[in-house]
Amino acid sequence: MEDCHVLLVIFPGQGHINPSLQFAKRLVNLGAKVTLSTGFSAMNHMSRPQIPGLDFAPFSDGYDAGLKPDDLNDFWASMKTRGSDALAKLITARKEEGRPFTRLIYTTVMAWAGVVARGLHVPATLLWIQPATVLDIYYHYFTEYGDLFRNCSGDQVVEVPGVPCLAVRDFPSFLFSTETNVNYDLDWAIEAMRDQIEEINVEENPKVLVNTFDALEFDALRAIKKVRMVGIGPLIPSAYLDGKDPSDTAFGGDLRQNSNDYVEWLDSQPKSSVVYLAFGSYADVPNTILEEIAQGLVNSKLPFLWVLRETYKGEKPEEKLRCKEELEGQGKIVRWCAQVEVLQHPSIGCFLTHCGWNSTLESLASGVPLVACPLWNDQFSNAKLIQDVWKMGVRVSGNEEGVVTADEYKRCIECVMGGGEKGEELRKNAKKWKDLAKAAMKEDGSSYLNLKAYMDEMLTLKSIN
Ligand code: UDX
Repeated sequence: MEDCHVLLVIFPGQGHINPSLQFAKRLVNLGAKVTLSTGFSAMNHMSRPQIPGLDFAPFSDGYDAGLKPDDLNDFWASMKTRGSDALAKLITARKEEGRPFTRLIYTTVMAWAGVVARGLHVPATLLWIQPATVLDIYYHYFTEYGDLFRNCSGDQVVEVPGVPCLAVRDFPSFLFSTETNVNYDLDWAIEAMRDQIEEINVEENPKVLVNTFDALEFDALRAIKKVRMVGIGPLIPSAYLDGKDPSDTAFGGDLRQNSNDYVEWLDSQPKSSVVYLAFGSYADVPNTILEEIAQGLVNSKLPFLWVLRETYKGEKPEEKLRCKEELEGQGKIVRWCAQVEVLQHPSIGCFLTHCGWNSTLESLASGVPLVACPLWNDQFSNAKLIQDVWKMGVRVSGNEEGVVTADEYKRCIECVMGGGEKGEELRKNAKKWKDLAKAAMKEDGSSYLNLKAYMDEMLTLKSIN
């Protein structure tokens, strides 16, 4: 498959880098060459894995020193303009050199890259790095069912094809920014999602690759008649799934330094005794929320490993917590860890998470049940799926004022960690999903076969052209 060369264009954030690197490794293993392209805002901070067949073509997105969530609106416009120009030049140059790209593949919110490819007659495919259910929601919202979502309030629910009944609290926050726990301006995101759906609809027979698998989202993958969604995940290092490459234990593109000082501590903890807490790579968690979580943890008396990143202002969030000292005697706080490795550790009993899609899939593939604490974006819909559809976790609820209290965090942690019927059921389901995730990635599994078929199609099309 010498001649298959994919240009993979991704949003410069950890939540896109990780599944995309794994996707690139899978393509390379199937015989393709891959050039990964993203903004210097990430590339300048990212470790670059050395993989034969994978190279990098970064571009300036105008925020080369780094990106903060408050910059997102301006960043978005800047990346789109500069990125479009850079990609067009790259694609044209490679063609002139006689080694053209066979296909451009771009991740969620990067529809402008698809537009560039179309303009230069390079076939393009979306790699959707959130659940299929969430793509269904956006698709329905921006096509037939917008009013249903807009008119839904209070106790009402929305029912649309392929998606469980959704209340407002289950909508992705990019549709309704009032339901988010972080106060970022989301105009750019709504525009990006609209562009995304329009770009899908421009194509005659659109096919979308989705970081999910058939057994997990069978109906959601088939909910939109016009769009063929194909599950090719979970995009997680091989050592934890098919096991074909035991040396593949990390994504390889971290933007932050690993703390490294927690493994010995985890080794010293009893089996399934530790609560692991992390809120992904991006959002700063408001101090009011951290305070309640910390108190809930202290009251639970359980050992924990908690990833508390420095804020964008350079503050250490634990410094402000009232119960800092009790916390430090009970568990471990780190700035960053190798999350996929941590989730495999036998001492981990549950994952209290913001429900970013990568964290959700990584927990699922490790058989670790969840406490779902969504902050923004797709995380509300993911929390709904975790609790009500896959039944492998519990979601925290707010009181009458909408505050999730320390008692609520304690209740949920104890429910998931406890020996009661509910805890047993959650652990049993988590184990079931882990087994199904592994089966999907094996050589006769649905995700493996779907990706292989996609590669074959790509080559057939190339030879026709
Ligand atoms: C973003 C969005 O917020 C999320 O909702 C969307 O689904 C994907 O893009 P992010 O918030 O970073 O992602 O969360 P998540 O999707 O969970 O990705 C975080 C990644 O960072 C995971 O792959 C996780 O393993 C990794 N991570 C996190 C670490 O390696 N170490 C850590 O300490 C914390």
